[in-house]
Amino acid sequence: MTTRTFPTAGEAAAALAGDVLNQIRARPALVLGLPTGRTPVAFYRALVRGIRRGGTSVADLTTFNLDEFLGVSPDQPGSYRGYMERYLFRPVGLGPAQINFLEGTAADPRLECERYERAITASGGIDVQVLGIGANGHIGFNEPGEWLVLHTHRVTLRPETRRTNAGLFGGHIDSVPREALSMGLGTILRARKIVLLATGREKARAVSLMVRGPLTTALPASFLQLHGDVDVVLDDAAGALLGDTTGAAAHL
Ligand code: F6R
Repeated sequence: MTTRTFPTAGEAAAALAGDVLNQIRARPALVLGLPTGRTPVAFYRALVRGIRRGGTSVADLTTFNLDEFLGVSPDQPGSYRGYMERYLFRPVGLGPAQINFLEGTAADPRLECERYERAITASGGIDVQVLGIGANGHIGFNEPGEWLVLHTHRVTLRPETRRTNAGLFGGHIDSVPREALSMGLGTILRARKIVLLATGREKARAVSLMVRGPLTTALPASFLQLHGDVDVVLDDAAGALLGDTTGAAAHL
């Protein structure tokens, strides 16, 4: 796992956007895995700017998002699909045939998860998976717990995760769904390359444990250590505890 640290969140997001842009230019038919959340907003803004400025074609790009809230339809405020339309898909003109998303309102969530796994395989697999990380060490919606699930699956969200997503639902935690569909740890680890963006002091503990802590289901991101090609892009605040893994591990 390599880490790069930048003085500000904006610089970290711009650096990652530059990397992804280079990947798209090198391989226009890239299969790109994407996150949502507060952190990647600056990344998407920089990516959209870069694509427009460079006249980069995204006509052959395929995308797969990590997760979606259960029971939430794409046109509902709060949906991750709506978020992606707003910050990336519409601004760069990605068409529905290029976009893959878990359907939160699928009649049978289990079948929907199986369909998604098949779609990833049929695409040839994810070339570059962009990730964020929760302050509790989750990636996608793989929450800390006694076990982790390999494939795309239905998850129960932890209260802290629902709290950090309240902004999407009018600021009310009670309006945030209790469940979601998410790629599993195995789905994520199958990506050929993984890049992770984390900014802000509240991510510092999870970041240090992810990079150098023990592999544990108490911190799902720690399993990224098993992957041979992970770039972690941080601001100074998120990287603040990188030298202090023993202290951070004591709080697992
Ligand atoms: C969402 C996702 C989550 C977020 C994480 C951090 O698609 O994959 O793992 O990356 O919850 O969210 P923010 O950036 O809001 O702190």
